[in-house]
Parts: sequence; structure tokens; C-alpha cells
Amino acid sequence: MSSSSSEGAKALSQPFTLPCGSTAPNRLVKAPMEEMMGSLGGGLPNEKLLKIYKHWADGGWGIIITGNVAIDSTHLGTPFDITLPSTNLLKDDKTIQTFKKYAQSIKGKGDDKSPLAVVQLVHAGRQSMRGSGRYPWQPTLAPSSISMSTSKGLIGKVIDYALWNTPKEMTQEEIKQLIQRFVEGSVLCHQAGFDGVEIHASHGYQIAAFLSPRTNVRKDQYGGNARNRARLLLEIIDGVRQRVPKSFAVGVKLNSSDYVQGGLTEDDALMNVKWLAEHGGVDFVEISGGNYENPSFMMDSFDSEKELAKVNGTAKTPSKPPTSARTQAREAFFQNFALRARSSVQDVKGPGREMALILTGGLRSRTGMAGPVLEGIVDGVGIGRMACVYPDLPKTILNDSVPDTDPKSSPPKYTMKGSGTVALLPLKIVNAGWGT
Ligand SMILES: Cc1cc2nc3c(=O)[nH]c(=O)nc-3n(C[C@H](O)[C@H](O)[C@H](O)COP(=O)(O)O)c2cc1C
Repeated sequence: MSSSSSEGAKALSQPFTLPCGSTAPNRLVKAPMEEMMGSLGGGLPNEKLLKIYKHWADGGWGIIITGNVAIDSTHLGTPFDITLPSTNLLKDDKTIQTFKKYAQSIKGKGDDKSPLAVVQLVHAGRQSMRGSGRYPWQPTLAPSSISMSTSKGLIGKVIDYALWNTPKEMTQEEIKQLIQRFVEGSVLCHQAGFDGVEIHASHGYQIAAFLSPRTNVRKDQYGGNARNRARLLLEIIDGVRQRVPKSFAVGVKLNSSDYVQGGLTEDDALMNVKWLAEHGGVDFVEISGGNYENPSFMMDSFDSEKELAKVNGTAKTPSKPPTSARTQAREAFFQNFALRARSSVQDVKGPGREMALILTGGLRSRTGMAGPVLEGIVDGVGIGRMACVYPDLPKTILNDSVPDTDPKSSPPKYTMKGSGTVALLPLKIVNAGWGT
């Protein structure tokens, strides 16, 4: 068998080292996925959750990013999320001990084959559903008081009203507390033995809402222009970096675009990537896109060019014909943006240009996963739904004794029962949610 016959497996099997010095044993990243396994109203990681992570830990992943962990128990994504309690986290022995067990369940033996264990920290902001950690009538906190709009027409308005509170604009004191909670959450994760944290700044949650011109119309230093909208994220990174050692990884999940009218554009998003690289202190950026108003990140298939054309009201630029089998096999939803992001990071002078890029969304086959790595666009690829269906997916994907052209190099595609019928509903969030 020629070596090129398993070129994809070989590329994805290469370890990679983050700027903090930690090395992931391969390029496959289990993407963050909210497990909804906490108790009603949120709670600490429990045995059921740890059991699932042990499966992933044995699966051969390079990095395992946990599902989002809420830093504020009053703002959960769903009522069953894992959350940090509203205590002084660094003195809360029960929380520290529980997180130690959580880290241990992911890191397993902790040798050079073990995955890097990263906790995703989130504040759901305006996308925290009614009653998710609060009384149903209590408003969410957000950069500005702009209501959610996930569906169209009168019925859509009623559904939106039933699901979401109208947010309250955050005061500067509330912003300070928010930053503090991300910092304390990160310190806790470090003390518990995790290799890093990922700050969730995409999919419309709190930090993404600050980054978006549609949901952030503030007049103070946290709004008004793109740089000000990025201030919150940069202040969180600074705050975290001041309290954790350099060897601890700090990543950010960022949108390539919100794909909604008036939302974050690809050009805005590119500036965010560039500013993070210039700023330094960030080990990786995981690229995704969309929010609950257009959940592109969770669709079955997604064409970013088509979606951008729809948002801009222009005709879709015809895609260039594929030049190789690799481009033909392209599955990644946000690869065009990743390419632009890579060149933008490369242009940055200074240590921030070492920041790794991870591309998540749409990847289903070995060739689809290997393409963006082989082309040098990203350092790793994030796998969500396939990681749920096949927790030990890396064992198949990285097996270089099976040629890339052999259908056995990737597990079979799966479809969710009923997804065809559900797709007829005019509610994108329901369509996407069915698959998840
Ligand atoms: C069940 C489920 C839960 C998710 N929860 C999160 C989450 O907590 N944080 C996050 O950043 N993305 C979350 N996502 C999005 C995934 O990380 C990923 O971006 C998305 O599933 C697209 O990747 P895929 O096509 O490989 O599934 C979730 C996706 C699924 C399917």
C-alpha cells in the first residue's frame, strides 16, 4: 500500500503543540456539546456525565472539549446544563473536587496519548431560555435590550415570546462581574487539573452578542464600533491570563459570521481573529458560525456562500469548480472563512501568530476532515455529531492501514429518523435541534 493511500489518516495522526506548550496527540477535536445531563435548574457534573466522558477519553481524540459549562447559574442554555454554582468558586471544595474527577475522567492515564482536556465556559446571555436558572418572568442579561427573533410570522412571534425573555441591558458593574466569573471559572478548571478552557464567544451567546452589531447597540466603551464590541472578550482573556500559568491553554470559539441580517459579518469576524492574534494569550480559535436566529452550525448541510448571498440579498457567487478530489470532498461548513482567517493570522507579527485554528462543522468523512489540515488551513478539526454517534471515531479515521479511498476509512453516514418531516417546519431552530 502506498503511503499516499492513507495520506489523510497520516495527516490527522500528527500531534500538534499549542502556544502554551501542551501537545495534542492528534488533530481530531471532540467539539463542545451541551450534554443536558445536569439536574433541573443546572448542577455539577455527575456520574452519568463522567461515564460518557470516559467513553470519549478511550476514543483516541487529540483534544476533548466539554459541553458548555455555565459560569452563571441564572443563565443556562437549557434547564439541564452543567453549571458552576453561584459560590466563591475558589473556596468551594465540593466544586473543586467534582471538577477534579471530571478532569480525571477525560485525561485517563494522563500519558502522551491522552487527549488534552478543555472545559468550555459560557454565559448564555439573551439565548438563555425562559426559566433556565431564573424565574420565567426574569429578564436575561445582554449587551442591549433586543428581543430574540428565531421564527417568522405571528406564530413565530408567539413561539419566541414563549421561549425567550426580553433582555435587560447590562450595567458596567454587571459586565465586571461577568468577566470575574469567567476568570474564576478558568482558575477553578486549572486547579482541577484540566489542560485549558475555551471561552464560548460564538452561536449568539453572551460574548457573541457583544461582538454582533445587531445585538450590541451600546453607546459606552463596550459598543459603538467593532473594536469596542470585542473589548469584553479581550478583557476576559486578559483577566484569565493574569490568573493562570502560561502552560494552561486558553481557547476561544468564534463565529465566522452570524449569517443574519445586521449581524456579525465575515469581515467583522476576520478582524476579531486578527485582534486575538495581535493581542496574544490565546492558544486556539475554534471556528464556527450562526446563532439561534440562524443555527447554521447545527444544520445537516450548510453552504456559507449561499447563506451570505441570502443575507446580503445578492446572487450567490458561483463556487470555483473543484480542483482535486480533496476539494471535491469538502464538507466543512466554514472552510472559506478558515482560509481567510489563516492568512490573516499569518500576517500578524509577534507570538500571537502561533495561535492554532480549529475548524468545526459538517465534517463526516476522513477525506473531509483531512482536507483542511493537509492544505494547511487549520491545525485541527472539531467533530460534533459524529462524535456522539461514534465516540471512538478516531480509531477508524486515524487507522492508516485502511486507504483513504476505502469506504471503511469513515463510518457510515447516519440520518435522524423524522428529520425530513421536521425540516418542513418553518422554524430553523427546531429543524436543527431535531438532529442534535
Ligand atoms: C447536542 C449538541 C450540543 C451542542 N452544544 C454545544 C456547546 O455546548 N457549545 C458549543 O460551542 N457548540 C455546541 N454545539 C455545536 C457543536 O460544537 C458543533 O459546532 C456543531 O455540532 C457542528 O459540528 P458537527 O457538524 O460536527 O456536528 C452542539 C452541537 C450538538 C449536536
